[in-house]
Amino acid sequence: MKAVIPAAGLGTRMLPVTKTQPKEMLPILNKPAIHYVVEEAINSGCDDILIITGRTKRAIEDYFDRSPELEEFLKKKGKEKELEEIRRISEMANIMYVRQKEPLGLGHAVLLAEKFVGDEPFAVLLGDDIIVSEEPTTRRMIDLYNREGAPVIAVMPVERDDTKRYGIIKPSNLSRPPVYTVDDLVEKPAPEEAPSNLAIVGRYLLTPEIFTYLKNISRGKGNEYQLTDALKLFAFSRKLLAMEIKGVRLDIGSPESWLKANIYMGKRSGII
Ligand code: G1P
Repeated sequence: MKAVIPAAGLGTRMLPVTKTQPKEMLPILNKPAIHYVVEEAINSGCDDILIITGRTKRAIEDYFDRSPELEEFLKKKGKEKELEEIRRISEMANIMYVRQKEPLGLGHAVLLAEKFVGDEPFAVLLGDDIIVSEEPTTRRMIDLYNREGAPVIAVMPVERDDTKRYGIIKPSNLSRPPVYTVDDLVEKPAPEEAPSNLAIVGRYLLTPEIFTYLKNISRGKGNEYQLTDALKLFAFSRKLLAMEIKGVRLDIGSPESWLKANIYMGKRSGII
């Protein structure tokens, strides 16, 4: 299975640090956020990964690349453990890159993966959404896809007031947790307009048909091309499933959520 990791967003809620630092490279403990996302893809069986980057995102490419000077330095100093870790990162997976030239939204970013994807189903993992769980979420989604033969998006229940921060699904009346049939989706609705409290988390298991829909949407919320709008068109004519995540979702999009993510991981690893 191939995986696509969109990481081209500008991270405006984290300015000024994101002026020169990709938000996906912000640390959760001593690893950048995107490291955890790439690990989830690999642990789910995805070896070929396409990261969609943009201007100011070169640190991501450097991070997953070899670092000969650093390796030499660590070798000379006898720092074997660090050397092994640094090498492991550059050999984690087969990673390719494509740049989104303009910030035209997640829908536009995913469309850039069309050639890479070919005609097989593929996973999309947003580079700034981390899910801490025993079984990788993408792996569970692949299993569901294999059982049901329909694309799957990951969801989680949120407070009514928070619907404006997420894509929200309208589940069919007949479906029951943790798997829903999706009748409709709305990108970042006000609480009174939200069709449910089930929010899209940054994980999608899609088929190449989505590209046809992505080519047919116009600009939506925030004047950007939204993946949610393409999925909405898809759900009107095809079967689309949503699956509740297990575990904890960490968001690094704002100073508060980034700090909470670090505290959570610090406690989990026993550092604090
Ligand atoms: C994107 C999606 C949204 C989803 C969210 C999850 O929004 O458009 O539907 O709920 O990711 O993180 P963003 O946070 O990139 O604005």
